[in-house]
Amino acid sequence: MRLIRIWLGGWTLMNSLDEIAQLVRQCSDCELGRTRNNAVPGEGSPSAELMIIGEGPGSQEDLTGRPFVGRAGQFLDELLGYIGLTRGDVFIANMVKCRPPGNRDPLPAEVMACDKYLERQIELLNPALIVTLGRVSLARFFPGESMTQARGKVRNKDGRHIYPVMHPAAALYRQEVRPGIIEDFKAIPGVLEGIRNAEATPTAAALAPALADEPSTEQQLSLGGISDTGAGPITEAAVPELTSEPPEEKQ
Ligand code: SF4
Ligand code: URA
Repeated sequence: MRLIRIWLGGWTLMNSLDEIAQLVRQCSDCELGRTRNNAVPGEGSPSAELMIIGEGPGSQEDLTGRPFVGRAGQFLDELLGYIGLTRGDVFIANMVKCRPPGNRDPLPAEVMACDKYLERQIELLNPALIVTLGRVSLARFFPGESMTQARGKVRNKDGRHIYPVMHPAAALYRQEVRPGIIEDFKAIPGVLEGIRNAEATPTAAALAPALADEPSTEQQLSLGGISDTGAGPITEAAVPELTSEPPEEKQ
C-alpha cells in the first residue's frame, strides 16, 4: 500500500502539515470529495502535545473549511477552557476531511481513503497524547470497543497514547452525557503529567531536585526521608538511592 503511494507521488509530498492541507483541499479520492464545499484538513499548533481527532466536518465546517466551528465546536472550546487551553495550543483533525452528506457516519471506504492524511498528520505532529472524540475515531485505534468501556482511560496503541472521550456533539442532544465529557477532559492534564513522568528517564528525573541550586525545606525534608540521610544537603551518595522513587516524588 505504502509503496503504491510513493509511486503515485502523494506520499513524498506530505512533508509538512501545510503540504498535507494542500493535498487534502485538492483531493477527490473518495465520494465525499464530490459533495463537499470545502475540505477541512485540520488546524492548530504544529508543536502541540495534544492532538484531538473528531469524526468529520459538519455543515459549518464544510462552509468555512475549519474544524469544530459549529455548536459541537463551541462546546469543545469550552472543554479546552476547563484545562486552560485554547484551540491554538492543540491540533484538531478529523477522521474524514470532507463532510458526509446529511452528517451521516463516514463509510468504511471513505475512512480508508482518507486515513493516509490522518496517519501522516499523527506522524508529523508526534503528539504526547491523542484524544479521540466519538465512536468513529475510537474505532480507528480500538475497533469493536464500546465507548462506555473505553472512555476516560489512556492506553498505549502502536506506541501512541490514546485517550477516548465521547463526542461533544452527543451532549447537544443528550444533556445527561455532558458531565462525563467534562470530567474526562478535566482529567487530561493529569494524564499528560503521567506520560511526561513515565517518559523522563528515571535517573534524570531523580536527579532533577538535586540539581536545583537551593532545595526548599520541603524538598530537603522529602529527599531526606527518601534517602534516609536526614534533612541535610544532598550528597552524591544519596543520589543512587533516589533513582528508585516513584514519579510522585519527582516534582
Ligand atoms: Fe479525499 Fe478524504 Fe475528502 Fe475523501 S474525505 S475526498 S479521501 S480528503
Ligand atoms: N464534528 C466533528 O467530528 N468534527 C468537526 O470538525 C465538527 C464536528
